[in-house]
Amino acid sequence: MSEATQVQPDYNYKVVRQFTVMTVIWGIVGMSIGLLIATQLFAPALNFDIPYLTYSRLRPLHTNSVIFAFGGCALFATSYYVVQRTSQVRLFSDKLAAFTFWGWQAVIVLAAITLPLGMTSSKEYAELEWPIDILITLVWVAYIINFFGTMIIRKTSHIYVANWFFGAFMLTVAVLHIGNSMAIPVSFTKSYSLYAGAVDAMMQWWYGHNAVGFFLTAGFLGMMYYFVPKQAGRPVYSYRLSIIHFWALISLYIWAGPHHLHYTALPDWTQSLGMVMSIILFVPSWGGMINGIMTLSGAWHKLRTDPVLRFLIVSLSFYGMSTFEGPMMAIKTVNALSHYTDWTIGHVHSGALGWVAMVSIGSVYHLVPILFGQPKMYSTSLVNVHFWLATIGVVLYIVAMWMSGVLQGLMWRAVNADGTLTYSFVESLEASKPFYVLRAIGGAFVVAGMLIMAFNCYKTIRAPKTADVKTSSVAATA
Ligand code: HEM
Ligand code: HEM
Repeated sequence: MSEATQVQPDYNYKVVRQFTVMTVIWGIVGMSIGLLIATQLFAPALNFDIPYLTYSRLRPLHTNSVIFAFGGCALFATSYYVVQRTSQVRLFSDKLAAFTFWGWQAVIVLAAITLPLGMTSSKEYAELEWPIDILITLVWVAYIINFFGTMIIRKTSHIYVANWFFGAFMLTVAVLHIGNSMAIPVSFTKSYSLYAGAVDAMMQWWYGHNAVGFFLTAGFLGMMYYFVPKQAGRPVYSYRLSIIHFWALISLYIWAGPHHLHYTALPDWTQSLGMVMSIILFVPSWGGMINGIMTLSGAWHKLRTDPVLRFLIVSLSFYGMSTFEGPMMAIKTVNALSHYTDWTIGHVHSGALGWVAMVSIGSVYHLVPILFGQPKMYSTSLVNVHFWLATIGVVLYIVAMWMSGVLQGLMWRAVNADGTLTYSFVESLEASKPFYVLRAIGGAFVVAGMLIMAFNCYKTIRAPKTADVKTSSVAATA
């Protein structure tokens, strides 16, 4: 039987389509809020004196919408797609799949209502109040049952490495979310953490750092291990390395949280342990990055003509950059300069925009034609335009934040001969202003690229169907 006519299992693509479309929509929403708060930092009047639009309330809305709405939908879409393709079976349960889709959208809408109203647990990346936390737990458990259920009924003997990363991401996020969100409710909209003082801080950054390690990294590595080889038309460079990468990464990440709490009330030895583990973490991170990039061996020429592949490969370069920078910033003496400054924000966005957003965008461009029965995207040139807007935008963003961050760090520590501070805080803010403008220009490039993506996806989805999504030749092999 030829590849083109090979009949596949009747996969559940409906839920993948739903999550894929919402990835683009939430991406635009979350990044536009990011752009608004970036602009407010040099033009504060843009909060229009409306409490719901103040920086303090929109900032958590930005982080929640880009991480959990945009990133989360991308992870749901790709994990549901990859687990079916590589297991050669339909999802374990369509009902659970539908519940996860509508449940997750409900969580996002509730976040968009409660955060601007000022309802918050005040734990970073876990701001949502307890009733929403319970809904998140229910959706997540349904997700885990559906994903692992599909692997249990799989028709293949092997479990492809991407599923290992997705599986680790799901299980760890469940433990992190439940552990860190433990709270005593005092009303329907207010609760207090079960933990206090330094223990609370430790729990929070055990959660916070592993949200980075498992939500923003392991899940997206699952995406990378499927979509990079697919788009390049080459097998993974070293399958053995991918297994070492998996075990090394998941066993190291969990120890590194204290690097967020250097020079705090946390016992000193935990800070040093966090620092050492973070430095070691560089090795598996780069192992994975090299494995992804080297998958292109023998197919480098494809980068010249395929902007989707460029998204995927450039995302890996940003991954390499942020996982070099992170271990450096975890060194206590470096952290003494970088902490509290925009350097951290630059690091965050080289990981979050450069790596997470770009690998998601590349994967969505790979998926949309397959899911909607088209041979390719409506316009490859527009994908190319998006690629350049995103790349230039991210570079402007992170370079601006590096310069502003190092400048702030140096100004804050400068002292005169008599021991007084050389600069007042306001002087450091004035010095940062041009960089805030530059960052916002970078953000505008990124948002413009997302709008072009939405248009391109819309045209692809609405075009007359040319291929049967079940037997599409592009999608025929797992
Ligand atoms: C157009 C794109 C974006 C713009 C303009 C933007 C802008 C911003 C701004 C202005 C802040 C606050 C910085 C501060 O308080 O000093 C921020 C924080 C943050 N953003 Fe973005 N952002 C964008 C995209 C993203 C994406 C795609 C992600 C994740 C996938 C992301 C994740 C975060 C995180 C985690 C923080 C909090 C950082 C921290 O607390 O250290 N952002 N962003
Ligand atoms: C080997 C890998 C990495 C290490 C060792 C590392 C280390 C660090 C360090 C030391 C900080 C600064 C903490 C502080 O001074 O407050 C930090 C902040 C941060 N990093 Fe990384 N990083 C790594 C990779 C990444 C990646 C790939 C991402 C995103 C996808 C990321 C996202 C973040 C975020 C969101 C923060 C800010 C947290 C906050 O204060 O709100 N990191 N990281």
